[in-house]
Amino acid sequence: MASKELLVVSGVQPTGPMHIGNWAGSLRNWIDLQDKHPERCLFFIADYHSMTIEYDPKEKQSQILDLAATVLALGLDPKKSTLFVQSDVPEATELCWIFNTVTPIAEMERMTQYKDKAARHAKNINMGLLDYPVLQAADILLYGGNAVPVGQDQVQHVETTRVIARSFNKRFGAFFPEPKALLTDTPKVMSLTEPTKKMSKSHGEKSCLLLDDEPETVLKKMKAVPTEPTGVVTEDALETEAFAGVKLLLDLIELCEGKAARKAALAESPVKYGDLKKRAAEAVAGRFADYRAKKKELLKNPDRIRMVLASGGAKARAHAKQTMQAVLKVTGLR
Ligand code: ADP
Ligand code: TRP
Repeated sequence: MASKELLVVSGVQPTGPMHIGNWAGSLRNWIDLQDKHPERCLFFIADYHSMTIEYDPKEKQSQILDLAATVLALGLDPKKSTLFVQSDVPEATELCWIFNTVTPIAEMERMTQYKDKAARHAKNINMGLLDYPVLQAADILLYGGNAVPVGQDQVQHVETTRVIARSFNKRFGAFFPEPKALLTDTPKVMSLTEPTKKMSKSHGEKSCLLLDDEPETVLKKMKAVPTEPTGVVTEDALETEAFAGVKLLLDLIELCEGKAARKAALAESPVKYGDLKKRAAEAVAGRFADYRAKKKELLKNPDRIRMVLASGGAKARAHAKQTMQAVLKVTGLR
């Protein structure tokens, strides 16, 4: 099962529109990796994972479709990558069960994201929330994945995948690889409203720049980024809490237009923050203009998107079935 060749696996939950943090930390890496390693990438929409928090069943299918349109509009090419919906491969839950039997509960209880979510959803601390990283390990190892593009906050889960692979291999013999997380150079984009915290949909829409936001919305949100009174921006100052919002504006410019644009934005001193916010808004809105148009086009034909997902699902499932046959054998169930 273990292979030296890179096999990329990643997923994202259909819990609402993607923000620029999701893109910067994970999705843009999906596209880079598929171009560098065509036919070695599997990407999926983690609908099983998304059931661990409260949701409206009537909305799930449109969230899945919207997310598929997002990744396709960002450049995911079904000829190079396998794109599918997690629940089209129910073997993931079967492998999750087997992994449950080799996973110490203590390992799960110390997960930062579990503790966070348990605190935020105190009325719904379900088993799925605790088991979430075990299912994630199954998602990755079902395909022999050894490279997992994710943002900073998912690194702990990828490390747990390694622990689970090791534990399985120790019990049943060398079988699974120990995958590594692949980070971009911006693994943690900060929140617009509280720039010392990570941008996250769980902190509310105002704190996130959505990839789908129209230019007016981007500008409006950018105006809310907190700045400081002096306008005197130095590299040292940018490391301080008071300048966290200013740093975010500059990071967004660099992310969308490159290092030279960031430098140009600092040409005048003191920096006029109103202008800097306009520059940042232009950079972001400009970077995603083509994406927005493409996504609207794609959504005109949802059946085509569903076909891409169905064919990706069939391919992924064939691979998963092979792995499960071997897993059942080494575990003594066949
Ligand atoms: P959210 O925190 O908004 O709910 P998710 O947990 O659904 O986002 O994350 C989806 C992917 O995007 C994961 O790989 C995650 O690590 C990455 N990601 C999420 N927020 C950020 C961020 N602010 N900066 C960089 N990457 C992020
Ligand atoms: N937990 C990931 C997130 O919230 C989504 C995910 C599920 C995932 N399974 C995965 C990511 C396997 C990478 C690999 O973003």
